[in-house]
Amino acid sequence: MSRDRLIIVEEAPSTQDIAYEMALRGATEGVAVMALRQTSGRGRLGRLWSSPAGKNLALSLILRPSCDPGSAPLYGLMAAVATIETVQSYCPEAVVQVKWPNDVIVSDKKIAGILPQAHVSDRTIEFVIIGLGLNVNSTRDDFPEEIAGNVTSMAILSGRNFSLEEIAHSFLNQMNRLYDHSRKDGFQSALEIWNSKWAHRGHHVNRDGIQGTAVGINETGALLIMTRNHGLVNLSSGEVNIQDIETKH
Ligand code: BTN
Repeated sequence: MSRDRLIIVEEAPSTQDIAYEMALRGATEGVAVMALRQTSGRGRLGRLWSSPAGKNLALSLILRPSCDPGSAPLYGLMAAVATIETVQSYCPEAVVQVKWPNDVIVSDKKIAGILPQAHVSDRTIEFVIIGLGLNVNSTRDDFPEEIAGNVTSMAILSGRNFSLEEIAHSFLNQMNRLYDHSRKDGFQSALEIWNSKWAHRGHHVNRDGIQGTAVGINETGALLIMTRNHGLVNLSSGEVNIQDIETKH
């Protein structure tokens, strides 16, 4: 990926839609769209992504990897690693971790979510849009009451405010580095960092009748669960949601 090109818009329903449209019209990889206010942000699994106006990072990045569609979730994992490294560099005291597949958490509170969206044609990935929602300057009172206890922000962690544009470039630099590395040497090193930051190794997982212990991820980013009756089971992105990780062994 060449140097990032960041387009900043005042307000958008969703940066994901803008980036998707731009990619359909041929925008090159490395182009990213950031909105200062996002009015209809989308989260994973059809959820809404609510973000207090002007406080948090809402950004969508266009990638054009040459890989098969099964590998698309890996770019979400890579973005989680890039986000962890960004947050960690500004909040060195925080223990920043990942919750499978790509939620970024600090002390079990969500600080960032990632929405990878692949556009596939003729069984080839045309592009992947990486949507990043990162809580930067919001305070506890800025979040809706029903989620306030489960979320945090860089400002809450550090006691200071940050330039959204600076944080956006920092994320894009980290992403650039990991992406270029994966092109030359594969995903191994990004997956190793992901694994070292994973908060739930050894936790009990219960989803749609599949119960077992979360033991790792495979080479496509699927969650590996050791079950009592069926041995090792893979759950790919989208099949498990974050509430499924329940108890620690
Ligand atoms: C999640 O559910 O955790 C993923 C949230 C992703 C939100 C970001 S904000 C920028 C981009 N635009 C959207 O509408 N969603 C993503």
